[in-house]
Amino acid sequence: MSDKAIQAFCDRKFGMFIHWGLYALPGGRHNGEIMNSIGEWFQSYFRMPNREYAKFAAQFNPVNFNADEWIRKAADAGMKYIVFTAKHHDGFSMYDTKVSDYNIVKMTPFGRDPLRELAAACEKYKIKLGIYYSHYLDWHEEDGGDPGREAGLNCNFMSWGNDWDFPDRSGKDFSRYFYGKVIPQVTELLTNYGEVCELWCDCPMDIRPEFSSALRDLVKKLQPDCMINARIGNGCNDFQGLGDNQLLHSKSPLPIESPGTLNNTWGFKYDDHDWKSTEQIIEQLVSLTEKNANYLLNVGPTALGEFPPETDRILRGIAEWIQGKEDAIYASQPTPFPQELDFAYCTRSGNRLNFFLRKTPPELILDGIRGRVVRADVEFRQEGERLFLKLPDLSGQTLPLVRLEFEGKPDVRQELMPQNGTLLLSPAAAEIMEGKEERKTAGIEIDEAAIVHEVTNHAKLDRDGTLCDWNNVSDKIEWEVFFPEKGDYALSAVTQTRWKNQPWDGDRSLVLHWNGQRAGVKELLPEENDPSPYFTRKLSPLGVLHIPEGGRGKLILESPEIRSENAGKINLNSIRINRI
Ligand code: GLC
Repeated sequence: MSDKAIQAFCDRKFGMFIHWGLYALPGGRHNGEIMNSIGEWFQSYFRMPNREYAKFAAQFNPVNFNADEWIRKAADAGMKYIVFTAKHHDGFSMYDTKVSDYNIVKMTPFGRDPLRELAAACEKYKIKLGIYYSHYLDWHEEDGGDPGREAGLNCNFMSWGNDWDFPDRSGKDFSRYFYGKVIPQVTELLTNYGEVCELWCDCPMDIRPEFSSALRDLVKKLQPDCMINARIGNGCNDFQGLGDNQLLHSKSPLPIESPGTLNNTWGFKYDDHDWKSTEQIIEQLVSLTEKNANYLLNVGPTALGEFPPETDRILRGIAEWIQGKEDAIYASQPTPFPQELDFAYCTRSGNRLNFFLRKTPPELILDGIRGRVVRADVEFRQEGERLFLKLPDLSGQTLPLVRLEFEGKPDVRQELMPQNGTLLLSPAAAEIMEGKEERKTAGIEIDEAAIVHEVTNHAKLDRDGTLCDWNNVSDKIEWEVFFPEKGDYALSAVTQTRWKNQPWDGDRSLVLHWNGQRAGVKELLPEENDPSPYFTRKLSPLGVLHIPEGGRGKLILESPEIRSENAGKINLNSIRINRI
C-alpha cells in the first residue's frame, strides 16, 4: 500500500456508513413480532426462506431517494467519505450487476442503480466513495459461507449462514460461490464506479486464507490505492478495525477505523428509538481523532430512501458544531501527550496544538510543555515547563476549541504525569509483567476433582487499548509515573464490559503500590455508573495515594483475588489519579 493512500486514509477522519437494502422495508417487524437485534439481519433472525424474502424486492420502491441530498448531508456534517452496502449478507445487490439477477435494477419497481447516483454525488461534493461487500456470508447462495453451528450464533440467536434454506452443509462448494459471484462482482464494483477509497468486507469467520488473498490480489490489481479493512480476514488488510461501536482508550500506532451506530442497528428499524445524543457522537469523533482513528458513522435509510428524522437532526447538529473547527480535525496529527487528558482531547496541526475542552474551569495548568507558545486563543503564561491557561466562560458549549500556536513543533515531555491535577493511566502505557503460571485463582475453593475452569489467563492488551482477559492473580501491571510535587491523590479504576448488555461480573480486588507503599484495596464493585452510549462503564474508587515528595516512581497494580471466572471479561480502561 502506498504511503500516499495511507496518509489520505488517515487525513479523512470521518465517514458515513450507509446500510441500505431490502431489510429496510420490514424495518425489523414481522407478523406482529419486533426484532430484537440489528435490522439488516432480518432474514436470519426470522429464518425467512429466500423465496419469501425476495418478495420484498417487488415492493422496494424508494421514490424519495436522492443521492445528492444524502451526500450533501454527509459533506455538511464534515464527512469525507462514505461506505455503501453494495451487497450485504442477504445477498441482494444494491447496484446494477450482470453477475446476479438478484439485484435492485432487475428485481424492483425502482429499477435505478443507487451506487451510480451516489458515486456521481460523491464526485460533486468531493467525497470519497467506499464500498461494503459481504464477501463470505451470502444467504441467497447455496454455496455462500456458513461456519456452521459450531461457530455459535450471532448475538446468541441468529445463524451465520443460511441453514434454513440450505440445512445440508456437506455439499457446499464455497469456491464456486466465491469465483462465481464475489470475484466478478468486486471486479464490477472496482471497474464501473470510478475511484473506490475503501473496500469494506465483513464477517470473515472461517474463510480460508487463499480466498482472502485472492480477493486482495484482485483489489490491488484493479485499484492499488483502495484500502482494505481487516474483516477481509487472514491479515490481508491495509488498515486495522475496531469492533462495532468500539472506541479507543489510547493512541493507535497504526491507521484504524471505528464503525459506529447512531442507535442500536445498522439497517433501518422502525422500533429502535435509542438514539445517541449529538454531543456523544461529537465526543466520539474527537476522541477517535486524537487517537489516530477514523470514525465511520452509520445511517440506516428507510425503504422510501430517506434518513430517519433523528438521523437528520444529529447530522445537522454535527454540521453546526464542526463549522470553524475543521482545521483541527482533518489531516491533524494525534495527541502528542502520552496519555488521554481528562479535561481535553488534543490534536496537532503543524506547530499548533488544538484542545477540545471536556472541562472548562477558569484555569488549566499543564506540565512538561517544552516549546514556547507564541499565540493562543486564550490568555496564557509559561513558567519553565509549566503552562497556565486562563479560560473565559465556555460553559454550555460542546467541546469548545482552544488553539495554541508554538514557535516550532510542540514538544511535550513523553512522561506519564498528572496534567491539571489528573492522570489517566492507560494499560497501553504500562508494562504487563506476567506472573508465574497459576493453576487456581485465590479465593475460590476448588474441589480438585471438579476443576471446571482453570483460570490462568494473563492480562493482555485489547485492540482498543484496554486490559482484558486478566485472570492470573500473580500478574503485575507497571507504570512509570512522574509526580512533579508532593500531595494526596485519589485513585480509582475505570472498567467496562466488552460488549453491550454483557452482565456485570467483575468480582475481583485491586491493589496499587507506589514505591513500596500499598495504596488501596478495593473490591471491583461498581459504585458509580458512567452513562456510556454502548458499553457499561464503571468507576470504582480504590483509596488514597500519598506522595511524600515529587519525583519518579513505579506504580504497580495487582489483583490478588479473582473470584469470578468472568472477571477477565471486564476490561480495565484506566486507573484515574486525581489530586485532592
Ligand atoms: C456486524 C454485522 C453487520 C454489520 C457490521 C457493521 O458485522 O453483522 O450486519 O454490517 O457489523 O460493522
